[in-house]
Amino acid sequence: MIPLARPSVGPREEELLLETLRSGRLALGPRLAEFEAALSRRARDLPVSAVSSGTAGLHLAIRAAGVEAGDEVVTTPFSFVASANCLLFEGARPVFCDIDPRTLNLDPGAAAAAVSERTTGLLPVHIFGYPAELPAFERLAAERGLWLVEDACEALGAFHADGAPVGARGNLSVFAFYPNKQLTTGEGGAVVCPDAEVKARIDSERNQGRAPDMGWLDHDRLGYNYRLDDLSCALGVAQLERLDELLAGRTRVAALYSEALADIDGLDLPAPNEGGDRRSWFVYVVQLPRGIDRDAAILALRERGVDSKPYLPAIHLLSFYRRRFGHREGEFPVCEDVASRSLALPFYPELTDGQIERVVEALHEVLATSLSRSA
Ligand SMILES: Cc1ncc(COP(=O)(O)O)c(C=O)c1O
Repeated sequence: MIPLARPSVGPREEELLLETLRSGRLALGPRLAEFEAALSRRARDLPVSAVSSGTAGLHLAIRAAGVEAGDEVVTTPFSFVASANCLLFEGARPVFCDIDPRTLNLDPGAAAAAVSERTTGLLPVHIFGYPAELPAFERLAAERGLWLVEDACEALGAFHADGAPVGARGNLSVFAFYPNKQLTTGEGGAVVCPDAEVKARIDSERNQGRAPDMGWLDHDRLGYNYRLDDLSCALGVAQLERLDELLAGRTRVAALYSEALADIDGLDLPAPNEGGDRRSWFVYVVQLPRGIDRDAAILALRERGVDSKPYLPAIHLLSFYRRRFGHREGEFPVCEDVASRSLALPFYPELTDGQIERVVEALHEVLATSLSRSA
């Protein structure tokens, strides 16, 4: 079976992990600062706080932005559920609006229309590693006095048209390092902070609210255990050393897929870069032609040794969100259309040309059969 994702780890990762293991410093040791400094170099030298997951990073980022219970925050329904859930942790309400059909990112026009007097923040997501329209969201935030947090969990290595690396515009921005990501630490995440003061707050809150001098058991605010351990940081340091190579591997696989799948009628491929924005390839998600039975297609692909899955479901239509907020089909038609047709194909840097061919052949076959079945 060709799996959907596989972390790419090599001898350098093994070396640094063993070194760290033998050092006896497994948490709150020197690897944390080393990993943060290396990430910071990728983010225009902005201060970075490494944390235990992307979700933890989002939670601390919105707290640092000033979210309060009862606030409304405008965000996208086409994302991994954590970008909306983090608002619920603080008693805020996600206000969803529709997405751009090309980039699949929050549509700035729809976001502007969704801002009300109860809105205090914006939370755009760089979905599938394609840069969200940050200049437009920054203008909207400035005009309406809103805070802005970027969910860049899927977008390490992407660039905006103006040359800024995604996550390095000076807004609170969050990366994630789960094993399917461009860079992995096992579990893990990081917050890029606008300044040292915000980093100090996040460093404290990730560590049980410890006072800035880190006095033992001196806690001067509410905090969490969102620390990233030194083994994870060692993995991150090794991965960062070869991030460009890892990203190039992903770009190669995406280009081969896009070329080989271009001729399938009705199949929508991920948007190519446009206007100077540069995607960092996280997943390869196609949208099946309308009328195809996706579950049947997934089973037929599996029979041919190819793993695939729907990616992503619309957040507002998840059972929990329907129950809690009364959401219904038809609220965000672009998102719902994309979510109902999306299919993630196997995607990681080491996929060989032969494996890519097998996936492409299998998809051609499955779609030809399903198309003729429904014809
Ligand atoms: C868009 C987005 N936001 C948030 C997260 C949460 O990150 P984590 O799984 O590390 O908590 C993810 C990770 O899958 C994600 O893709």
